[in-house]
Amino acid sequence: MARTIAVSNQKGGVGKTTTVANLGAALSEMGQRVLVVGLDSRGDLGVHFGVSGAEVDATVYEGMFAEEVGFEEVIIHIEEARVDLAPATRELAGAELILGDMAVVERREVVAEALAPVQDRYDFIILDTAPGLHLLLVAALAAAREVIIPQQASYLALHGLREITESIQQLRRMGPRLSICGILLTMQDRRTVHHRQVIHMVREGFGELVFNTVVPATIRFQEAPANGQPITQYAPNSEAAQVYRQIAREVMERAPQT
Ligand SMILES: Nc1ncnc2c1ncn2[C@@H]1O[C@H](COP(=O)(O)OP(=O)(O)OP(=O)(O)O)[C@@H](O)[C@H]1O
Ligand SMILES: [Mg+2]
Repeated sequence: MARTIAVSNQKGGVGKTTTVANLGAALSEMGQRVLVVGLDSRGDLGVHFGVSGAEVDATVYEGMFAEEVGFEEVIIHIEEARVDLAPATRELAGAELILGDMAVVERREVVAEALAPVQDRYDFIILDTAPGLHLLLVAALAAAREVIIPQQASYLALHGLREITESIQQLRRMGPRLSICGILLTMQDRRTVHHRQVIHMVREGFGELVFNTVVPATIRFQEAPANGQPITQYAPNSEAAQVYRQIAREVMERAPQT
């Protein structure tokens, strides 16, 4: 059975999609069988693997809502990165309407039920969720056992720990059974004087919940998707690639709590 991990934060632009793509690729490098799932209608996750919405026949939307389409038909094998991808496209924006018409119990299970037939083929299933609070997020959090919460380090410098507390509370409300795999600090700008203080403050506040590895801000993380590759492939010897390999190791060591 796969470990299903949602990468979520209601705040936009904190590094969710970047983390799903690069953590997925790094875990695969370590010999893990990985499926990454796009649950954002903007289709950002596919871009990290050179897959554009125009090229795909079936997406997670059909995988979830079309009776005749099994989830395995939606999965694209990315040869180079050795990762499987279930892509999303714009039509996924319609999911909210469909979910809104379903009974509460039924709609919570939509993502879990879609993934059920492929669960045993993977060691990790990583879900890229869209920002904001929406019904598809509730379904994603119900399908996942664990959540990784990326937080932008520079933002925390201004808003402090309350930002993290609020993210955790929000996710807990939406997914009461979830265990926190870790809080991941991203986009750390080492040129600022207070960057070490921010990390120190977050560790003081949240201890073990915080990943030891911090993701630095570097243009490499923008160049890689522009080139349609995860960082481990685009710049395999860079510090940026090394960082996500370390995060992958930490995720492996952090056995899910029951
Ligand atoms: N460590 C980093 N250093 C520099 N730029 C980064 C880093 N991580 C992500 N980015 C860039 O920041 C932007 C937002 O990142 P990303 O798309 O991963 O965030 P997100 O949380 O998925 O956003 P959204 O909420 O809109 O889905 C992207 O342009 C990405 O390339
Ligand atoms: Mg995203």
